[in-house]
Amino acid sequence: MTWIAAVSVLALTTLGTILRKEYVHHSKINDLRKQGVAMPAGWNWITGHILTLQKRVQQFPPDVNVTLVMADLAREHSDTEIFLIDLWPFHLPLLIVYEPDAAVQMTTNLNLPKTSVHLTMMKPITGGENLITMNGQEWKNWRSLLNPGFSTAAINDSIPHIVKSAKLFQDKLKEKAPEGIISLDDLATRMTMDVIMKVTLGADIDYQRSDNALARALGYITKWHSFWDPQASVNSAIGSEKRSGGRSVATLAIEAYLAENKDNGLPQNNRLNKDFARDATYQIRLFLFAGNDTTSSTIVYVYHLLSQHPEALKTMRQEHDKVFGTNIESAAQLLIQRPALLSQCKFTIAVIKETLRLYPPAGTMRAGGPGVSITDYCGNVYPMDYVCATIIHQAVHLNPRVWPQPRKFLPDRILVNQDHELYPYPPAFRPFEQGPRNCIGQTLVWNEIQIALILTVRTFDITPAYEEWDATRKVGLLERWKTRIMGELVKTVHGDRAYQTDKAGTHPADGYPCRVSLSKWRSS
Ligand code: HEM
Ligand SMILES: *[C@@H]1O[C@H](CO)[C@@H](O)[C@H](O)[C@H]1NC(C)=O
Ligand SMILES: *[C@@H]1O[C@H](CO)[C@@H](O)[C@H](O)[C@H]1NC(C)=O
Ligand SMILES: *[C@@H]1O[C@H](CO)[C@@H](O)[C@H](O)[C@H]1NC(C)=O
Repeated sequence: MTWIAAVSVLALTTLGTILRKEYVHHSKINDLRKQGVAMPAGWNWITGHILTLQKRVQQFPPDVNVTLVMADLAREHSDTEIFLIDLWPFHLPLLIVYEPDAAVQMTTNLNLPKTSVHLTMMKPITGGENLITMNGQEWKNWRSLLNPGFSTAAINDSIPHIVKSAKLFQDKLKEKAPEGIISLDDLATRMTMDVIMKVTLGADIDYQRSDNALARALGYITKWHSFWDPQASVNSAIGSEKRSGGRSVATLAIEAYLAENKDNGLPQNNRLNKDFARDATYQIRLFLFAGNDTTSSTIVYVYHLLSQHPEALKTMRQEHDKVFGTNIESAAQLLIQRPALLSQCKFTIAVIKETLRLYPPAGTMRAGGPGVSITDYCGNVYPMDYVCATIIHQAVHLNPRVWPQPRKFLPDRILVNQDHELYPYPPAFRPFEQGPRNCIGQTLVWNEIQIALILTVRTFDITPAYEEWDATRKVGLLERWKTRIMGELVKTVHGDRAYQTDKAGTHPADGYPCRVSLSKWRSS
């Protein structure tokens, strides 16, 4: 046999394998279809729903987060609020869920495991398995080791650091205000990075002032990694940081680990095992990643909504005056001395919740398995032997069956009594997910966003500047040709120019160009 024949045989065999796999896959989807599982029109044996989705995507801006396209598609399945989408071979076959009770089945009653997709996506970022990707006992062990660092008491200890970072954010806004159009997203992200580095590693990176801070941040992780070296570690971890008050997530995790391994017979400074050290760095990298974009885009969206709702802005400013007095400088001091005042800002909390409802930055995906199924509100059963399922927050949070006036910004939803028609149905509000795999960082998020707002909302007027930005932006040659051939690009989603993009953690379009000016609030 010549090598040409050998290569041909190999090619044919490979092609045969691919075709057989394709056939097996599409037969399974076809079976589900015949069983009555809802799916978008246009499915076919060769391409599944790829072309259907492709057609939809074209009606959106090019950098839109595909989740918004799915949420749009979801509106056509209001009779089930669950439907199947088949994007094989690009994605595992997927049930799209925006039925609140089915979401509870997935995350709370069944607590279905995470899929392998999680690890594939996260590994380049974290280096290995982490809290988001793990399952079973391994997840349980790590979660209990890491919980203390995110507890109310631990985050309470970090409040002075958060206040310091938020004050820097305030300074930066003041400094940048005269520059014309600025990116609020960029400034908010720098503050968030500052906070997350401090809380997880006890490191001061001062990302808001220095430009190569990302390099420094990564340097810290490396340093921290070697700091796990048993020779150098334990004493400095426990000894020095304990004295300086607020202990980082990393320190608290070491302590929890040592407490659990008290009796492993090794001397104290030799008890950290190397695998543990390596795995812990994956977790730390996860925190930097998970706590970064989600929190910063939420801060930007709060400002976005306030800019469109001046009456809400006014109410929030009045609340801050009432709780912290009219002097913003003293607000920072008060926050450090009496962090419990944060819980008195009921309207501020309501605005943040309503923002997270309208612009949720995350979601969840869960694996199926033999015999696993979920049920919709009409009693239809969806077998998950072959498919996994994702909860799309942008669709659950706008589900018109459970949310009156779903697209309207109404902080009152959070403030009304339980018998009021606006009162939310709890399973339908899940920005941090629900059940055992909910977000570990929630307490930090609440403190951080509230503090940032308390120190800036009365000081600045922030208005989006998309029109100006679009008008003055330099358009590249490629884009000009594209517009000539395909027509003007779509620039909004449901009329919103600050739509969520596919930049990790759903940052607002184009970094939220805006104008910042000093507010007249305090002098009036
Ligand atoms: C507005 C801000 C945030 C939102 C809306 C948010 C939302 C979520 C959601 C929806 C999940 C479930 C993910 C899944 O099932 O795949 C999650 C999990 C998680 N989040 Fe957050 N998050 C935020 C900020 C943070 C911060 C600041 C941190 C930490 C530093 C963090 C750390 C984590 C971790 C470690 C998990 C995995 C928990 C587990 O499986 O045990 N998040 N978050
Ligand atoms: C939170 O910290 C403040 C001081 O910053 C302290 O007075 C208060 O007791 C702490 N609360 C909790 C629950 O740890
Ligand atoms: C945080 O987000 C910003 C903007 O998306 C990004 O440039 C930065 O690398 C992120 N940092 C980490 C640690 O993921
Ligand atoms: C799109 O949005 C979802 C949450 O709605 C988020 O989990 C995901 O990371 C975003 N996609 C990208 C590519 O950033």
